[in-house]
Amino acid sequence: MAVSLRLVTAGESHGPALVAIVTGLPAGLALDRAAIDADLRRRQQGYGRSPRQQLETDEVEVLAGLRHGRTLGTPLALVVRNRDHANWEWGMSPWPPAGEPSGKGTKPVTLPRPGHADLAGVLKYGHEDVRDALERASARHTAVVVAAGAVAKALLAEIGITVAGRVLEIGGATGEEEMRAAMDSAKADRDTLGGIVEVVAEGVPPGLGSYATREERLDARLAAAVMGIQAVKGVELGEGFALARKRGSEAHDEIEPGLKRRSNRAGGIEGGVSNGEPVVVRAAMKPLPTLMRPLDSVDLATGKAAQALVERSDVAAVEALAVVAEAAVAFELAGAAREKFGGDALGDFVAAQRAYLERIGWTGR
Ligand SMILES: Cc1cc2nc3c(=O)[nH]c(=O)nc-3n(C[C@H](O)[C@H](O)[C@H](O)COP(=O)(O)O)c2cc1C
Repeated sequence: MAVSLRLVTAGESHGPALVAIVTGLPAGLALDRAAIDADLRRRQQGYGRSPRQQLETDEVEVLAGLRHGRTLGTPLALVVRNRDHANWEWGMSPWPPAGEPSGKGTKPVTLPRPGHADLAGVLKYGHEDVRDALERASARHTAVVVAAGAVAKALLAEIGITVAGRVLEIGGATGEEEMRAAMDSAKADRDTLGGIVEVVAEGVPPGLGSYATREERLDARLAAAVMGIQAVKGVELGEGFALARKRGSEAHDEIEPGLKRRSNRAGGIEGGVSNGEPVVVRAAMKPLPTLMRPLDSVDLATGKAAQALVERSDVAAVEALAVVAEAAVAFELAGAAREKFGGDALGDFVAAQRAYLERIGWTGR
């Protein structure tokens, strides 16, 4: 079987830690702890974030797969501890808690938030306490996605690929001042906002992905990876939805001698395969479901009308999504590159990539 990257995660929002296991990395890849921590920090920053982000400064720990800063080619085990767990030791104790209830999370939550996983989660799993659903559904999970993405970016850097996410819109506003104003206004109204982010990967050679199925097509894989992030409700590649309103003569990217393109409306993917242009992925995030002015709901304990749960929460997390989407795209591209170039040692992987670029005469963009 072709080698690929796999990511398995575990962890609750206020439990002891988040855990990720990454398999499929070649041996000999140098990882920079400060670079991983810098991405974790980027995820926590942003104008719309809650005070929790100041409370906790995330740091990565590595339990396996790394020796003296280099991967061993064995599963890489990453941990990001929840410092806030100190306040939830009784409430989120993995084992039956000892002593009297203390700290947070001691009383069952019975007020599901519209737009969150609360109601669907308790019905599906038969929980009586909404917390049993929301703790895993929380986007706190994305901390380890970002850590794994930082590892993927280190691998991609070895073959000249960079990935960067940025915010395009928050609450319909497109300039920094307007975005801040929109967030201030939503905060004053005790409301929340969503927005749009864009991830661009440069240096992607032609030939990642393949034509037909969702497992092979790079566009399908990237869409699934980004849609796999909480609160993402739309993903487009390149000009995406706008292409549907154009004529073919205005939609496609004409080819010039030297195999250069006049435009990149396709977002760097044709036929499910990267075409050598920058890969461009955009994601639409819905407004966050936890409102400080709660929406109408039902108290699951009584069946009567009530207001939804109010728990410390962000006004908007679009800036954080840009970092998480960057990580998700990087991880997927790194997986596609592992499938194409293989190799157990990093040198094998890089040599296969170079030989391939030589065969197709690709000098990059
Ligand atoms: C980086 C990030 C931060 C988030 N922060 C919050 C938050 O503070 N409060 C909230 O209600 N939802 C937040 N969300 C969104 C919820 O996690 C998400 O809406 C919920 O899990 C339900 O999933 P769905 O929106 O995909 O249906 C955040 C999402 C992301 C990606």
